[in-house]
Amino acid sequence: MTILARPLHPLFAAELAGLDLHAPADAARIAEVKRLMDIHAVAVVHHDRTLTDAEHIAFSDRLGPIERRPILKVSGATDALRVPHHEIIDQSNLDETGAIYRDDDRRLFFKRANRQWHTDMSFHPVRATYSLLSAHEVPPDGAAPTEFADMRAAYDALPAAMKARLDGLVAAHSYWHSRVLGGGPAPTEEELRSRPPACHRLVHTHPGSGRKALYLASHIAGIVGMAEAGARSLLAELTAFATDRRFVYSHAWRVGDVVIWDNLATMHRATPFDDCNVRRDMRRTTCREAEVPV
Ligand code: OGA
Ligand code: MN
Repeated sequence: MTILARPLHPLFAAELAGLDLHAPADAARIAEVKRLMDIHAVAVVHHDRTLTDAEHIAFSDRLGPIERRPILKVSGATDALRVPHHEIIDQSNLDETGAIYRDDDRRLFFKRANRQWHTDMSFHPVRATYSLLSAHEVPPDGAAPTEFADMRAAYDALPAAMKARLDGLVAAHSYWHSRVLGGGPAPTEEELRSRPPACHRLVHTHPGSGRKALYLASHIAGIVGMAEAGARSLLAELTAFATDRRFVYSHAWRVGDVVIWDNLATMHRATPFDDCNVRRDMRRTTCREAEVPV
């Protein structure tokens, strides 16, 4: 079946009708999805039936290269995984027994840090390309939507003087920076060592579309060669500009939805909900710019 892209926002984001991620995808289909992703940057795919973990991994692997590293162990958490696949990041508020986290669970604080605008894995030297988030269980009434902002459109709209100022700037991204900013506990020594910061240009040319885009995230801890206060105010100004409502698409989830976003063209954030009482089971795979040895 041909894929029909139905725009969800004036600037970006489309529902891809005619795409069924349960079905194996051949090379032509994958090429078409990538072509549409280069245009729309966020794709919503509805399904009546939730993807199995195996189907989710299989499709992501075709988009690839998929991230397979064992997920980060949060200090104090058990080794047991609720979702027993190293390719899947468990973005739920559920512990390894399937129960909602107790409100003092460290993992809950780390999850809440996703409520800051970010791109996935920018704290890694090999950046994430696509993320694929699959909805297994969602709060009622469309609560806890995920918001996306178009970093290409935001860059285009910047005043020329700001574009000139950003030219060549390099930012240092740290996972722990955003966790602490988001109200999380200070990282342990072991956690700090497990994810050192990574540097990336603040403005880059998107490899698929050739468009310039901001590469921003709450993970940014500083700008190389810039004093801390100056960097902080520049980042705050840029983030406020780039996440203005005109650049934002908000996705209200239905069970079975898979949203694919391009981390090199967008930022995203989770939104608050009653996470100590209401279940939300979301599972993510991530693709990378290049294969990274496990
Ligand atoms: C993610 C993420 C937001 C959400 O999976 O990377 O940021 O709404 N999720 O769960
Ligand atoms: Mn994320």
